[in-house]
Amino acid sequence: MEVQTSAAVGVQTNTRITGPIILLGPPAAGKGTQAKLIAQTFGIPQISTGDILRANVAQKTELGLKAKAIMERGDLVPDELVCDMVADRLLEADCCRGFILDGFPRTVGQAEWLDAQLEKMRSCKAGDMAAQKACAAPVVIRLIVDYNVLRQRVTGRRSCPTCGRIYNVYFQPPKVQGICDVDGTSLVTRPDDAEDVFAERMKTYDRQTLPLVDYYRARGRLVEVNGEQPVEEVMAQAFGAIENVNRL
Ligand code: AP5
Repeated sequence: MEVQTSAAVGVQTNTRITGPIILLGPPAAGKGTQAKLIAQTFGIPQISTGDILRANVAQKTELGLKAKAIMERGDLVPDELVCDMVADRLLEADCCRGFILDGFPRTVGQAEWLDAQLEKMRSCKAGDMAAQKACAAPVVIRLIVDYNVLRQRVTGRRSCPTCGRIYNVYFQPPKVQGICDVDGTSLVTRPDDAEDVFAERMKTYDRQTLPLVDYYRARGRLVEVNGEQPVEEVMAQAFGAIENVNRL
């Protein structure tokens, strides 16, 4: 395994080709938390469709104006808008060793689109084994967390609008209440973390995203992790899944 030390972040970064990783789970399962840790350790980008959409809403882009009301009521943004957004992101140079999809795919339609997109990317790179591995069939890590735990995590979540770091007033509080440890910015609560919107997001998840469990299980790509364990334990099991699947 190739490893380099990044002085900037003070962690060891694994520099081998990881390929695509999908984090699947309900709202507040810990997808963003784990995606950041995997991204830092494996040196591949975290592609969070929720974060990209929220940035578009904040910047009042055409996409953001379409997505705002949908997100505020806990529904899913239409597949074609999200798939176009992901297609653009996958073209960026930092995806050349792999990438983590956090919050995508969320419907069977999005999963089928992604499979076709990855196949197209592989066929463009015929003869280049390394480039093909970067867009191989994904490893799907499903985080399993009970509804009541999710509800408590949502109500306690705070995030930094500057660096994106995620905290939780119950489980991972900042050193100073309401202030980001990294850059001193005031922490914010997401509007869709209100209790009634969370309930809608859960219904949307059960109806539209849960079928992906069978979709990926049938393809032999699914690894299930108990997401109620401490962050470090979840991380260790997620890393194990990435290492094992890539050894196949
Ligand atoms: P998105 O931003 O993706 O929201 P989500 O899927 O509901 O997930 P969350 O961000 O709420 O939670 P998470 O699993 O990342 O948990 P986190 O690590 O923050 O999407 C928002 C909206 O955008 C959607 O509703 C939809 O409208 C739209 N959208 C996005 N993608 C789309 C797509 N593909 N198609 C269509 N529409 C799309 O952790 C949560 C809390 O728990 C934190 O406070 C954290 O500190 C804490 N925590 C994490 N892990 C642990 C642990 N192990 N123990 C204790 N606490 C923990």
